[in-house]
Amino acid sequence: MAESSRFKDSRWSLHGMTALVTGGTRGIGNATVEELAGFGARVHTCSRNEEELNKCLKEWEDKGFVVTGSVCDASSRVQREKLIEEVGSVFHGKLNILVNNVGTNIRKPTTGYSAEEFSNLLATNFESAYHLSQIAHPLLKASGAGSVVFISSVAGLLHIGSGSIYGASKGAINQLTKNLACEWAKDNIRTNCVAPWYIRTSLVEHVRFSNLPTVLFTYLQPLR
Ligand SMILES: NC(=O)c1ccc[n+]([C@@H]2O[C@H](COP(=O)([O-])OP(=O)(O)OC[C@H]3O[C@@H](n4cnc5c(N)ncnc54)[C@H](OP(=O)(O)O)[C@@H]3O)[C@@H](O)[C@H]2O)c1
Repeated sequence: MAESSRFKDSRWSLHGMTALVTGGTRGIGNATVEELAGFGARVHTCSRNEEELNKCLKEWEDKGFVVTGSVCDASSRVQREKLIEEVGSVFHGKLNILVNNVGTNIRKPTTGYSAEEFSNLLATNFESAYHLSQIAHPLLKASGAGSVVFISSVAGLLHIGSGSIYGASKGAINQLTKNLACEWAKDNIRTNCVAPWYIRTSLVEHVRFSNLPTVLFTYLQPLR
C-alpha cells in the first residue's frame, strides 16, 4: 500500500502517535482502533478472547495498520498492571492516547442485582478505566501531548432503562472526566468523554432493548 493512501487525510494525521484502546475486538472499540490506525497512529488494544484478538490483529495487518494486542481482562487489577507494562515496552515509555472503552452491562431491576454483579459491573466499567488512567499517567505525561478518552453513555446522564449500576458507573466516568481534565491539564494531558446513545454492537445484542420504549415513555411522564 502506498504511504500516501495509508492515511485518510494528510491534513489530519496521527502519524507518529501511539494509542491504547481497550476492548478493540468488537463494537465501538474495534471502530476506534481502525479510525486511529487509519489516521496513522500505532495502536495497542486488548480483549479477553485470544482467538478473536489474533483474528483482528491479522485483519488489521492485512489493511496495512500497525496494531499490536494483549490478552487482558480489564476488570483484573493485576492484568491491568501487566497491560500497561506491555504498552510501555511496545511504545518505548510514551503513550499519546488512552481510550478507555471496555464496558459491559447486566440489565435488571435494582432490587435484583447480586453483590457479585455489582462488583463485576463497577470493576469493568469504572474501576478499570480509573486504574488504567492512573497507571498510564507516566506514559501519557512522557509523550508531551497526552489524551484520555472515556467511553461513557447517555445512561450516565439520564434514566434510559439500562440498569442503575450501569448508569451509576457511567455517571462516575462523567465526573472523573471533569476531574482529570482539570488535574492533568498541567501535564499536557487532555481528558474527554464520549457518551453515545444506543449503537447496535455485540453488547446491545446481548443486553437487548426490548423495554426501551416503555422506559422512555415513563421517563417523559410529567411528575404527579
Ligand atoms: N453499544 C452501545 O449502544 C453503547 C452505548 C453507550 C455506551 N457504550 C459503551 O461503549 C463501550 C463499548 O461498548 P460496545 O457496545 O462496543 O461493546 P461490545 O460490542 O460488547 O465490545 C466490547 C469489547 O470490549 C471487550 N471487553 C469486554 N469486557 C472486557 C474486559 N473485562 N476486559 C477486556 N476486554 C473486554 C470485548 O472483548 P472480550 O469480550 O473478548 O473481552 C470487546 O472487544 C462500553 O463502555 C459501553 O458501555 C455502548
